[in-house]
Amino acid sequence: AIERTFSIIKPDAVERGLIADILKMITDSGLKIVGMKMLHMDKAKAEGFYAVHKERPFFGELVDYMISGPVVVSCLEGEDAIASYRKLMGATNPAEAEEGTIRKAFGVNLQNNSCHGSDGPDTAKTEVAYFFNEDELVG
Ligand code: CMP
Repeated sequence: AIERTFSIIKPDAVERGLIADILKMITDSGLKIVGMKMLHMDKAKAEGFYAVHKERPFFGELVDYMISGPVVVSCLEGEDAIASYRKLMGATNPAEAEEGTIRKAFGVNLQNNSCHGSDGPDTAKTEVAYFFNEDELVG
């Protein structure tokens, strides 16, 4: 089915000038960008986004990293977009990511892994709505 998913190009990738490379991998994979913006999250915004990880030992560092610089958030649409984008990103840990994936190509380490993608239909909906109003999405 045609789905929508949510993507973040994370600070480590933006900082290294990789926005265009990652967007090219996304569109080459057949996913369509139906919403996009560049922004610099504040602490409350990042804590809210990663609220599900609040009790994890890496939460504080994760939030600090995500507010360390600007990010590019987008809403992607396509056939099985959620699973398809997760496959394109590769394993969370770039050291375990397959050849041809974004994290294999650009990820630095488990935290600085260059991109985020929703893990299921419910989170996709919540995450898109956390950054986009309906009138900021096209198509
Ligand atoms: P993401 O897919 O955005 O979801 C949570 C993020 O936490 C993850 O990518 C990594 O950037 C970061 N992270 C840091 N340490 C860990 C860990 N041990 N397990 C999972 N994610 C981690």
